[in-house]
Amino acid sequence: MFRLLSPAGAPVSLSDIARSMLARTRHARCYEQLEKSIKVLSGARHCLFVNSGKTALLLGLKALKEHAGDTRDEVIVPAYTCFTVPAAVARAGLKVRPIDIDPMTMDFRYDTLSAVDFNRVLAIVGNNLFGIPSNWAKLDEISREHNVDLIDDAAQAMGLKHGGIPMGTFGKFGFYSLGRGKNLTAYAGGILVTDDDRLAETLSQEVVKLPVGGIGFEMMLLLKTILLSLFLRPRLYWLPSMMPFLGLGETIFDPEFDISGFSRWQVCLSAVVSKHLDSYNESRRANARALAERIQALDGFDIPGYDGNNIYACLRLPVLTADQQTRDEIVASLRRRGITASTMYPATVRNIDGIGPYLASEDNNFSGAQTVVERLVTLPTHPYLRESDIERIVTTLAGLSQGEKCPV
Ligand SMILES: Cc1ncc(COP(=O)(O)O)c(C=O)c1O
Repeated sequence: MFRLLSPAGAPVSLSDIARSMLARTRHARCYEQLEKSIKVLSGARHCLFVNSGKTALLLGLKALKEHAGDTRDEVIVPAYTCFTVPAAVARAGLKVRPIDIDPMTMDFRYDTLSAVDFNRVLAIVGNNLFGIPSNWAKLDEISREHNVDLIDDAAQAMGLKHGGIPMGTFGKFGFYSLGRGKNLTAYAGGILVTDDDRLAETLSQEVVKLPVGGIGFEMMLLLKTILLSLFLRPRLYWLPSMMPFLGLGETIFDPEFDISGFSRWQVCLSAVVSKHLDSYNESRRANARALAERIQALDGFDIPGYDGNNIYACLRLPVLTADQQTRDEIVASLRRRGITASTMYPATVRNIDGIGPYLASEDNNFSGAQTVVERLVTLPTHPYLRESDIERIVTTLAGLSQGEKCPV
């Protein structure tokens, strides 16, 4: 009766939690196992573990800045991305240069990107939003032409491949997030991967200096993870969803975020849950396919990055509606039918509250990103989704279909 699906999630079972607690005494072995599995999934030579994806990005940016000197102090980011990305750039003492995106690819508008003055640009962050790969061939060309580094933000694409190459490995460095709602979760966490020996050396020296949460921190995290394990289940998700103070799904811009190492227990939990990553991603792919093929056939909706021959294992399936009102009606209608759809980030990077002092320019033309802010709805693809949920989602959208394709 109270079934409600979360918008995203990676299940963590109570038995996985119990196993990770037992493994806690053999922490060094868990670390080795985890390191090995990340190296296998990414093919990268080096991986480093920290408390979040944004910390991984921040440390990587600081290292690039140190190697590049003072003249390059701007970082190009997509104008529609998670607010933590510009927060990490700001925390690194660098300037944020947002570039507009194409709503149909969720990736940069490459004509706009190519026209940028690269003299002060240190790096470009490609964000593979929802697991849809950025155009890494094009980014590679731009990076070579202008001698700037690429950063592969694979926070939403852990365990996925593009053209046979693991996501996270397209840049000078890449990173994954183990936050709630990601491909795999340890409640929180970040993994930086790189093939660059010099960068890895600099970063290792920084990571060992980070404070790491002690036993009190681990106990608190254990409790939160047990609650996550229980309340992510569709029969219980309605309960936390009715508590706005939990801030579920909220995205905030906070350059003062906590920077620390990865706790011992989280290393063990990650080692235990990492074996589920492929099967979770395969469920997401199958669910994304079942939804996308039927929604794509409806009038009034577009699916960014849709390619019938190659369905991505989207963390959430992005759908563009004809207008904001339809989008909001879909969210409300699905909620009444027991499904939480998300409207994702509430503003373009340019319009984030408080970002002003950190911007590299006054540019204000982000029409592609603004379209996405107004018309995007994302649908769950996670392993808790059932055939009957897919049916309900599709019939809800069909009922609100607008008669013609939306012009973007
Ligand atoms: C695209 C993207 N980049 C970076 C991050 C930052 O990861 P974390 O939440 O682990 O700091 C996120 C997380 O929400 C994300 O979605």
